[in-house]
Amino acid sequence: MSEIAGLFNRIAPVYDDLNDALSLGLHRVWKKMVLRWAQPRSGELWLDLCCGSGDMAILLARSGARTIGVDFAEAQLGLARLKSCHLGNLTWEWGDVLALRFDNNSIDGVTMTYGLRNLTDIDRGLGEIYRVLKPQGRAVILDFHLPDNFFMQQFQSWYLNNIVVPAAKRFNLAPEYAYLEQSLQKFPRGREQVQKGLGAGFGRVKHFPIGGGMMGILLLEK
Ligand SMILES: C[S@@+](CC[C@H](N)C(=O)[O-])C[C@H]1O[C@@H](n2cnc3c(N)ncnc32)[C@H](O)[C@@H]1O
Repeated sequence: MSEIAGLFNRIAPVYDDLNDALSLGLHRVWKKMVLRWAQPRSGELWLDLCCGSGDMAILLARSGARTIGVDFAEAQLGLARLKSCHLGNLTWEWGDVLALRFDNNSIDGVTMTYGLRNLTDIDRGLGEIYRVLKPQGRAVILDFHLPDNFFMQQFQSWYLNNIVVPAAKRFNLAPEYAYLEQSLQKFPRGREQVQKGLGAGFGRVKHFPIGGGMMGILLLEK
């Protein structure tokens, strides 16, 4: 846990700027897409897990949901707090997503953007989401994965090695961003994610590829 938290603490000062630069601002569009799928209702209690610097949790809170952002990288939570002090229905918590402090069947919905790939135990993470969700509760999970299409795979690899890592190098963070390609190699693609969702106990599970199949949205309903 401390190695991953350490990595995200180190990159926190440039995290938002790099995300904007490397995705040409598109990560904001994809997070809005997650909000559309999530459809939080005013007053519902939602968790944004692996919230990082907080953009997804802020979208949830602005839509009217009572929202808690959870992460174990304190520097990321610090950024999130700075961006959101005006939102009364949003709180930030230091916590391990693999051992959530919330009661069984207590949460209306969960979002997680670019977090699942970073969990050291994906099955346990999905199990925790299942445990805390109320019956019919829903989770929307966005992440990169390897594309099924060979040419898109080549493009993704080229993009990571020729755009992402050199950009990170300018901030002296090349090793920190070089982990991305490794993390993709072992991360389940759409079909395997669906199997994992079903294995965690969810009744309805769907995966929708987006971004040319370089990422996808996993929908889970308890
Ligand atoms: C790539 S960032 C994503 C941040 C944010 N959700 C976004 O979309 O920009 C992954 C985040 O997951 C957090 N993380 C990874 N494993 C975690 C765990 N077991 N418990 C809590 N946070 C975790 C890291 O600290 C990091 O902030």
